[in-house]
Amino acid sequence: MTGQNIYDNDAFFENYQKSRSREVNFNDCIETPILLAMLPDLRGKKILDIGCGMGQHAKQYSDMGAKSVLGIDLSEKMLAYAKAHHSAANIVYRRMAMEEIETIPDTFDLVTSSLVFDYVEDFAGLMRKIHRLMKKDAELVFSMSHPIVTAWDGAYDRYTRTETGERLYANLRNYCQEGLRKVDWVVNGYECYHRTVSTLINAIIRAGFVLEECQEAHISEEMRNRYPALFGGTIHRPEFIFFRCRKSD
Ligand SMILES: C[S@@+](CC[C@H](N)C(=O)[O-])C[C@H]1O[C@@H](n2cnc3c(N)ncnc32)[C@H](O)[C@@H]1O
Repeated sequence: MTGQNIYDNDAFFENYQKSRSREVNFNDCIETPILLAMLPDLRGKKILDIGCGMGQHAKQYSDMGAKSVLGIDLSEKMLAYAKAHHSAANIVYRRMAMEEIETIPDTFDLVTSSLVFDYVEDFAGLMRKIHRLMKKDAELVFSMSHPIVTAWDGAYDRYTRTETGERLYANLRNYCQEGLRKVDWVVNGYECYHRTVSTLINAIIRAGFVLEECQEAHISEEMRNRYPALFGGTIHRPEFIFFRCRKSD
């Protein structure tokens, strides 16, 4: 099976699970509300969730009336958690790398993915594979780390701060240099791929999609003020980027 398996690393998984389970976290407070607002009516839809992780989204889609949800993920640990905590009669969890989705013998009304495509080397190829798995008029709605975030190569501080630690600026370097980023984040040698915004958009369009909506993560001033350590930086840079695409032919 292709792809890195960092989520099966004990230390990384434990850290991820802890931060994802906190009452206030980036996923539930920023990513999920924006993604949900971009989704069509899910009632009766056959959904593929790529990189379903611990299954929170798959369970939400099932509760929102989806006909079926196929959640695929590379990580055994994430899938074990999903099966234990977010099961439903119309959800199937399957271990599979996103690089191998062309082997799925089915087509879907909706393909979703939350914060997973940072890990694929061939983003353009992935877009083409997803396009082939979709019915006519089906939608693809996904989020990723924002390219301003993935540009970081570990060699500079993410923020310039005041003496008291308040974030003054988000720092950015080597944005135009695309490719693998290997940084020490939670564990040594965390890997993701950096691409510019135009590379993402052009890959979507060239795969045959109509790009219908793009969002950059935002969070209310009230939340920023209430949780400055966690969300204070979001005034300077969007953590995530979101796309809604339609297969029109
Ligand atoms: C940040 S987590 C997001 C999980 C889930 N989508 C969510 O929003 O809660 C990223 C997920 O991508 C999965 N992943 C990483 N590389 C993958 C690959 N090549 N194929 C399939 N899943 C992958 C990881 O195992 C992990 O579950």
